[in-house]
Amino acid sequence: MRLLIVSNRLPVVVNKQNDGFGMEKSAGGLVSGLIDYLVSLGRKASDIQDYIWMGWPGTDIEKGDEALVRDTLQREFKASPVFLSKKLMEKVYLGFCNRTIWPLFHYFPNYAHFNLDYWNEYKRMNEVFRDELLKEIQKDDIIWVHDYHLMLLPSMLREQVSNPIGFFLHIPFPSYEMYRMLHKDSRTGILEGLMGADLIGFHTHDYTQHFLRCVLRILGKENHMGKIAMPDHTVEVSTFPMGIDFEKFHTMDVSPFPSSKPGKGKPKMVLSVDRLDYSKGIVNRLKGFELFLRNHPEWHNKVCLNMIVVPSRTDVGAYRKIKSRLDELVGYINGTYGSMTWTPVIYQYTSLPHKELIAQYRMSDVALLTPLRDGMNLVAKEYIASLADQKGVLILSEFTGAAKELSESVVINPNSIDEIAESIAEALNIPVKDQIRGNRIMQKRLKRYNVTKWATDFVDNMLKTSNISRDSVSNKLLNASLTGQLVKNYVEAKKRIILVNYDGTLVPFTKYPASAEPPRALLGLMENLDADVKTDIVIISGRGKDELDEWLGPLPLSLTAEHGSWIREAGEKEWRLFKPLSSEWKEEVIPILEMYTDRLPGSYLQERDYSVAWHYHRSDIEQASHLVKEVNDHLLSITTNISAHVIHGSKVIEVSNSGINKGELAMHWLNRRPYDFILAIGAGWSDELLFQTMPEHAWSVKVGLSQTAAKFVIREQSEAIALLEKLKTN
Ligand code: UDP
Ligand code: G6P
Repeated sequence: MRLLIVSNRLPVVVNKQNDGFGMEKSAGGLVSGLIDYLVSLGRKASDIQDYIWMGWPGTDIEKGDEALVRDTLQREFKASPVFLSKKLMEKVYLGFCNRTIWPLFHYFPNYAHFNLDYWNEYKRMNEVFRDELLKEIQKDDIIWVHDYHLMLLPSMLREQVSNPIGFFLHIPFPSYEMYRMLHKDSRTGILEGLMGADLIGFHTHDYTQHFLRCVLRILGKENHMGKIAMPDHTVEVSTFPMGIDFEKFHTMDVSPFPSSKPGKGKPKMVLSVDRLDYSKGIVNRLKGFELFLRNHPEWHNKVCLNMIVVPSRTDVGAYRKIKSRLDELVGYINGTYGSMTWTPVIYQYTSLPHKELIAQYRMSDVALLTPLRDGMNLVAKEYIASLADQKGVLILSEFTGAAKELSESVVINPNSIDEIAESIAEALNIPVKDQIRGNRIMQKRLKRYNVTKWATDFVDNMLKTSNISRDSVSNKLLNASLTGQLVKNYVEAKKRIILVNYDGTLVPFTKYPASAEPPRALLGLMENLDADVKTDIVIISGRGKDELDEWLGPLPLSLTAEHGSWIREAGEKEWRLFKPLSSEWKEEVIPILEMYTDRLPGSYLQERDYSVAWHYHRSDIEQASHLVKEVNDHLLSITTNISAHVIHGSKVIEVSNSGINKGELAMHWLNRRPYDFILAIGAGWSDELLFQTMPEHAWSVKVGLSQTAAKFVIREQSEAIALLEKLKTN
């Protein structure tokens, strides 16, 4: 199995130099973490025998140089470049990704630019990635797409290939209120784009829940334990907190760099490491440090803040501004508090290789990480892992994903400058034995769920979900050859019966149930099929007999209403009860449903002779989905003692007489005479009982690719009509 990693960034940035090209490691946690995972693949046996990393080389490469760059990247890094023009990347990378998505997803709406042109170019950039990938993908590849630059790619790929597709978001997924600020096209388009994946992963449970809520509110799709049914596959949405290569950080020999803490008589070292990004809370950190110095003169000359700041996205205005603010503040603190022998803030504007960085981690008494928002923050985990002697204190913002796993650290709210200042004083005073105790617990956790476990877990889940989808879909799909067999069986049969459901099968599900009347072509089709004396047609519906009379009354075929309570035999005008029924239970059920109708605006009750339906398709989808569980439980608790049962349909809960179901009803028809062709087609929950009772030689077909008792599935309602059309006599 080969793993195709797709991200905007490749592990290296390619830079043109006088004598060829330079390759520099890309900044950021995505690249850092994935490199360590890929290295670990070489150390252990794995299902993944090979990999390729596809992405943008980080700069605009001239056409004439593309072949050389491609060769070098493939040879040295197993990387395959996707060349993107400077103009496109201005609108997409600098525009939609870093001026719209990044600020919004990190809760900085004031920094967000909403520009339709950015969005259109974002779509184009995802298409370029898709086209490049299609040239590369082989049959047994698994595809893992990363981060916010490529959120449309999963669906674009799914339209073309059947390989397993996973998506992981490395940044936060914001709350619905924040997300909905995106332009209508993009807020729907992004969710639809992601839904092409088999598995969508987030760092924390909160991000997962935010995403599921947006899917519910914007796409109207509910989830069951994080699983969302799409027409042709199931999407699983789950939480996978990214880890680090613990052993590497814990055991690396960092010589010739010093790696021990400064010791007695030397200033204590407080370290911070981050890309220069407004989301990292660097300004607040400096203000907090300044306040700490102001409030704690006893620490003057005895502590230094060592800031490693990695240059990032310097072409975006907001990033340039933050850099000037930073320079200003460092100058102010050093000017105000520093002396010839003491520089309070040491500031390195550079990116260090891991060996040097680990040395810095080990030399630091305290790590001060104050992001205002951060998807994960791997630096926090790396600091703890690097402390070979388990001595050191991590101060960590509660707004990082990592804070969920590192609760033994000093967790702070970085919006409060006072809290930052006091946490520094607190950290510097924590006794060594308490430091060791907390760090030991955190190290154990980081060792267990390391980056390899994270990636393996993700890939295993992606394969599992995609296999389930494939089993329930490809193995059951009523393909052309099976359809051919079905038609042959039909043509050759002496006596045939077609049991067909109405809503979702003969007509599409509609938002308004009352507007689902049959089109004229459908009536013609049913009439044609029924005209053949060898064929019996029974429409099995949950609707009331009046509606069916109005819509299908003139047809000479058999009708059943209210899930089988009523029957109107072919050629007859009168309806009769399928069996003696009681409607006394309605007295108990209706007041309950009325109470919920009052509680859920837009919901309404529909009372029929032997069933009651509570519709909520006009209600707020989120409010409904919470309440529906309660209604269901409430009804189930009372219907165990009365002669009624509950059916959950498409945005409707129905209660009908027990002993009445489509399965029992079907047997009524099937027992009448031997049929050598039986076709049962349905789309809803209530049709499952119909499928379950079908004899072995029957063709049972479910509309929609979900788990079903039917033998076969078709994708959509129009295919049900197409199938019936094939049986039509000309
Ligand atoms: N990093 C590095 N050299 C540096 C500073 C940072 O290699 O000088 C790496 C660091 O080891 C970490 C990554 O950059 O793996 C930063 O990841 P994080 O999740 O903390 O933040 P991001 O930059 O992804 O927002
Ligand atoms: C974060 C993002 C990554 C990104 C990195 C560096 O970690 O999640 O996708 O690559 O920052 O940012 P850059 O804009 O340089 O790629």
